Parts: sequence; C-alpha cells; structure tokens
Amino acid sequence: MAGRLTVLREDFLRRVPKAELHCHFEGTVRPATFKDLAERHGVELPSDDPAQLYDYNTIIEFLSIFGMVSSTIIDRDDFARAAYESLEDGVVLGNLRYREMFFNPTLHTRRGVPISTVLAGLADGIEAAEQDLHVRCRLIADVYRQDPPDAARQMVEELLDARDHARGHLIGLGMDGAEADDPPEKFVDAFHLARRGGLRLTSHASEDAPPRNIVTCLDLLGCERIDHGYHILEDPAILARCRDDGIYFTCCPTSTAVVYGWPDLSHHPIKDMVAGGLRCMLNSDDPTMFHTDIGREYVVACQALGYDAAKVRQLCLNGVEASWLDGVDKAVMRQELNAEIDALQASLPG
Ligand code: ADE
Ligand code: ZN
Repeated sequence: MAGRLTVLREDFLRRVPKAELHCHFEGTVRPATFKDLAERHGVELPSDDPAQLYDYNTIIEFLSIFGMVSSTIIDRDDFARAAYESLEDGVVLGNLRYREMFFNPTLHTRRGVPISTVLAGLADGIEAAEQDLHVRCRLIADVYRQDPPDAARQMVEELLDARDHARGHLIGLGMDGAEADDPPEKFVDAFHLARRGGLRLTSHASEDAPPRNIVTCLDLLGCERIDHGYHILEDPAILARCRDDGIYFTCCPTSTAVVYGWPDLSHHPIKDMVAGGLRCMLNSDDPTMFHTDIGREYVVACQALGYDAAKVRQLCLNGVEASWLDGVDKAVMRQELNAEIDALQASLPG
C-alpha cells in the first residue's frame, strides 16, 4: 500500500501544472542534440557519449561544459530546435505551462554568432512549441559574471538594438556564472541600462556567496526577484527584510545539491527558506546537464521535504505570482492552475 501511495504521489507531482522561472536554455540541450550539433559543426568533444560529459563536482567544472554545449549551437535552426526540444521536455516530463528562460548572449556572440540569429532562432522554437504543445515561454538574457563590465554593458546595448528579432519574447535581464569572485556591483551599468530599456530584472545571488549580494541586487541593481539565494539563511535581518517585502526566490534543488554539496535534499536550504516565510518556487536550472527535469525536481524536493498537496500548490502558484506575465495573463494562469490542481487532488486516494 505504501508503495502504491508513493507511485501516485510521484505521478501527482509530475502532473501538477508548472510555471518555471529559472531555467537556462543552454543547460536544457539534450545529450543527443549536443552530439548531433557538434558533429554537424565539426566541434570535437572529449567523449563519444555526451551524457558522460554531464558530470561535475563544482560550478567551474559545470560552466566549462556549459560553454562547450553553447559552442555547438550556431545556426538559427539550431537555436530553434534546441528551444523547442527544451520546452517539449518540460511539457512531457513535468506538465510545464509557462517558462521564463535564461540564455547567455555573450557565450554565442563571442564566437561570431550574431545576436539577431540567437534571438530569432529562440523565438522560432518558442512559437512552434506554443503552437504544438500549448506551453508559453519568454526570454531573459543573462549577464555572464566572468565577462568584464564593459562587455556586459555592450551586450545589453546590442540586445536592446536587436530586440525586435525576438518578436516580443525578450522581457528581462538576469545574471549567472560563478558568483564567488564576481560580485553583482560589477554590473550596475548593464542593469541600469537594461532597466532604462524596459527590461525586467533578476539575478543569481547568494548561491555561492554572502547574503549581502542579495541586498546589492535588490537595492543597487534594481532586481525584482532573486535566483537561488540560499545563503540568506546566514543573515536573519536580510531574511526578515526579504520576507516582509515579499521577494520571490527561484530555487533549484538538484543543480545546487550537486555543485554546492547539499546531497541530501531533506537538508537543502529551501526547507528553512520556506519555513522562514520566504516566497520560494521550484525550478530545474540546467535540467539535462544535471540529469533531471522539472517534473523530477518537484518529485525529489517535495518528497524529501515532506510537503503535502497544499504546499505543492503554493509552490506552483508562487511560480505564477513571481512571473512577469501581465495582470490579466497572470489571473488566467492562476485560475487554470488552481482548477487543474483541484482535479488532480480529487483523484488522490484518501
Ligand atoms: N549558469 C547556468 N546555471 C547556473 C547556475 N546554477 N549558477 C550559475 N551560473 C549558471
Ligand atoms: Zn541558474
């Protein structure tokens, strides 16, 4: 009986409708597509089995393979194909309904791929997926922390100039890369330029660095939400401020368990963040590169943390509330998610 309940519960967690706000396009490429694109473009990989390359213990090792995957995505059709497959995986494996998806412009443009090609290809894939699979997606360009500040600012300038190629799908600026040695204040100009250009703002912060980076992102850069944020638990005053201000945190169980050493998800910082009153939601970060998917993230995190259906519903709805959908779209999605979760809950035993 206990086994049957567990199976049902996994099914429930996979099937609850999801909005995801922290997922990197380049980290969603299927191993088979990575291999195929590498062969097509003559990029030599260190192994015949690309899934074997998706193996790392530190963020630096991870980012090196992330760069390798990025180097195989070159033509507009490559971006379109990988974006479509990425959304298809979210839908099939986790009932994904909406995603705000990061991509790293400079990892592509520094190899000579025009930003217009990147944006047009991603928009092609997003529109095809919306038509075929009824999943929606918007784009967030990420500043890469290891870039110099001038390169980040120039990236934002080019992005704003080329924005029409994304056909309305580009809505925000974020920031990723290894955090410890490259604090957010380095990129204040890039963020202010993006804000003046009408982009919404978020940033990876306190993933692997002190909680003061969260304050810098909110107060100096103007970020509206925080990606990761786990070290906030080390500073009760910053935690209280974020709780009282209703800041949303986009948390990623598996990726951080792997590269930051919280292998037992029942002790992952998400647990105390939620218990401390922070508004958290769940995401897959770099799903294929961490051998996971958005459905599995709900399964492993919610089971390890012992969450009941009400908590799971809250996590899903937080994804809608924290999104940058406009008010009407948000209300429609909130209503759809609630209705579908009601129906799923009604089918649960007991
Ligand atoms: N780039 C892709 N995923 C990332 C993560 N979790 N942290 C920092 N940079 C990233
Ligand atoms: Zn991330």
